[in-house]
Amino acid sequence: MKRQSSGCVDQEARQLMIKRKLAEVERVLQQEPDIEVEEPPAEKQATVTGPTDRAVVQLPNGGGEVLVVIGTSEHAEIPGMIDRICYIVDKAYSSVGKHKHVDEYDARHRLAMGDAGPAANRVLHLAFKGGELVGCASSTFDPGWTPEGCGHWGLMAVDPASQGQGIATALVLACERRLATVNEAIQIEYQYFAGDEHSRRLHAWYEEKLGFQGGGPPPRRGSSFRKCFKDIPEAQQRLGQRRRLLEIRGWLQDQLREAGGRPEEDRAPAAVEEACAAAVA
Ligand SMILES: CC(C)(COP(=O)(O)OP(=O)(O)OC[C@H]1O[C@@H](n2cnc3c(N)ncnc32)[C@H](O)[C@@H]1OP(=O)(O)O)[C@@H](O)C(=O)NCCC(=O)NCCS
Repeated sequence: MKRQSSGCVDQEARQLMIKRKLAEVERVLQQEPDIEVEEPPAEKQATVTGPTDRAVVQLPNGGGEVLVVIGTSEHAEIPGMIDRICYIVDKAYSSVGKHKHVDEYDARHRLAMGDAGPAANRVLHLAFKGGELVGCASSTFDPGWTPEGCGHWGLMAVDPASQGQGIATALVLACERRLATVNEAIQIEYQYFAGDEHSRRLHAWYEEKLGFQGGGPPPRRGSSFRKCFKDIPEAQQRLGQRRRLLEIRGWLQDQLREAGGRPEEDRAPAAVEEACAAAVA
């Protein structure tokens, strides 16, 4: 009898492991066959479509389209991309008298975290308008220092030359849509300085418009570090969890192909396929 090489055995074992995970995802998907349709957004609100790692945000009132992708090592290879990320963070924060620095190593590391696909925890979202990188933000399912089930977004920075056009709005939507696939609540933080216009605007945006609770009114004097929370509505969590399952399934199918397997042979029944397609449409 011919002996298989260990590489071949490894590949078969890998295929088997991926197939098991795929079967588990299919089982969960079939348990919840009801497809919920995302509520149409109220007029004058931005809309988001597309997969979690490539969200297309349509801004209201003719504000145009912002593409928010999850950065990966492939982005690090685009000439000038790393420098541009470092520049945007530096310029955005220094323009309001704050100091936040992302160096080349940090930028590469943050982008590489996106390589894990749906398994990634912290990622860097990159906002593009007209093909140009104009802003970034990070989102994390479990930073390790928030309450259980509470995700986080931060490092929100928009190139000063592109501010006031809804770029940060698009980044927040993409971050919160990703967090809704796993988390029940979101935490953010910021430093509030009494009498400072930038702080006043951030407070109005975060704690009034975006619905975060910072624990009472801001100080009238001095400064305070505001840790803010908001719950993710259950309907959004359900939609998010389902989208995540579908995306994990697609990711596993890609992994299986890479391992030499054929996901086509392990396809779910046609009815489930159709339902899944409708849910991501
Ligand atoms: C705050 C910031 C991310 C907003 O980016 P933007 O793309 O201009 O924001 P948008 O056009 O999407 O507007 C969203 C909200 O941001 C707020 N905002 C806009 N410019 C702002 C500024 N210079 N300072 C504070 N808040 C601002 C507004 O409340 C606005 O909401 P509204 O216009 O509906 O009232 C951007 O000004 C920036 O990078 N600032 C420096 C970095 C920073 O402070 N990050 C947050 C730290 S916690």
